[in-house]
Amino acid sequence: MTPEDKSRIFNLAIEVLKENDRGAYTVPTKGLYPFQWNWDSCFTALGQAHFDEDRAWTEMETLFEHQWPDGMVPHIIFHVHDDGYFPGPDVWGTGRATPTSGITQPPIAGFALRQLFERSADRTAAERRARALLPKIEKWFAWFYANRDPQGQGLVAILHPWEAGRDNSIDWDEAFDRVPTEGIAPYTRRDTQHADPAHRPTKAQYDRYLWLVEHFRGLGWDNARLHDASPFQVVDPGFNAILIRGCQDLAVVAEALGRADTAARNRNRAARGLAALENLWSDRHGQYLCLDRITGTLIDSPSIGGLIPVFAAIPKSRAAAIGQVIQQQATRLKYVIASHDPDDPRFEAKRYWRGPVWLVVNYLIVDGLLAAGETEVAARVLRSSLDLIEQSGFAEYYDPLTGAPCGGGRFTWTAAMVLEFLDIAA
Ligand code: GLC
Repeated sequence: MTPEDKSRIFNLAIEVLKENDRGAYTVPTKGLYPFQWNWDSCFTALGQAHFDEDRAWTEMETLFEHQWPDGMVPHIIFHVHDDGYFPGPDVWGTGRATPTSGITQPPIAGFALRQLFERSADRTAAERRARALLPKIEKWFAWFYANRDPQGQGLVAILHPWEAGRDNSIDWDEAFDRVPTEGIAPYTRRDTQHADPAHRPTKAQYDRYLWLVEHFRGLGWDNARLHDASPFQVVDPGFNAILIRGCQDLAVVAEALGRADTAARNRNRAARGLAALENLWSDRHGQYLCLDRITGTLIDSPSIGGLIPVFAAIPKSRAAAIGQVIQQQATRLKYVIASHDPDDPRFEAKRYWRGPVWLVVNYLIVDGLLAAGETEVAARVLRSSLDLIEQSGFAEYYDPLTGAPCGGGRFTWTAAMVLEFLDIAA
């Protein structure tokens, strides 16, 4: 890419971020996702930090203004009324003043906090704002271990596929089969009016998404009860790695702010998590796998969820094996990283999280590979990511075989990641 290309793409990415900016929060894209999403916002803040530090902090602060009293940070905040999205506030019925969903999403906030804190040019503002966010993020992390790891195993479970952020991954298929669909209220999907139904989750999956929401709503969204009452409890290695990395990064910020107690607690959480993560390693696949907590067995589904752990401080040999899986993919795909192993017959190049490339995931993995010294494969992923942008613009996700743009267009987190990638590539 020439310097002119880079500067053109840099400016286009900022344009997308500004276009989706609603003042104090950013929507993922117009139409399809008209509210604030949890992990989207944290990625967005990383992008905004490249051109407006103050705005980047605000993005995260707005998210944490809607933290629940028990510590949970919801996956959607419905700041405005919009019929274009389903399921809306009525279906969730969480009873919050500003309506929110009742489930959570991958905790990128710990990582994002450290990034904003360390990069901010205005040190006084950064210290003040980090000091205010620190206890909130810690409260969220404590909530995870108390409510999603009730047996103290060191790893947390997701109770709904949407919590993983990888909505229809093949990882959930088996466990999802046990979720009933009887008795759910009739509904009309909205997502398929904005995007090609062939690229979206199926009706059978949607019925189960809704059954779980209605089930949890029936329990009054009491997080102390949800885990044990859920027929779907999956330990996702990627999700846990993000949490572990978050604990480590939170500890670094806490230390810099003189909060040794917070730092120690979070180092301890991360160490326990890293040790427990080893139980999810599969030698056969050369990567981690999800654990079905209901049956106690590993789920034979080699997806991106098992590669994301390179984002946490896993052993070097594991990082090298993950690098090899990606190199192997690169020999048969035009663009990496596919969200599911392309050699698996269940792989679908265009269907959402069952095959396509997502730049936020590429970003987490590039960061981890670089930290592990796997520079060659990191460069390969970086090249794919920038090629996709040049070829197909700021799409929600991409077909790894052709690079075709899929899902929503002018997508916020893709634009934010491009700003990050251009920086890494420089
Ligand atoms: C989809 C994605 C999820 C994301 C949301 C908003 O539901 O699967 O990860 O947070 O869209 O972009």
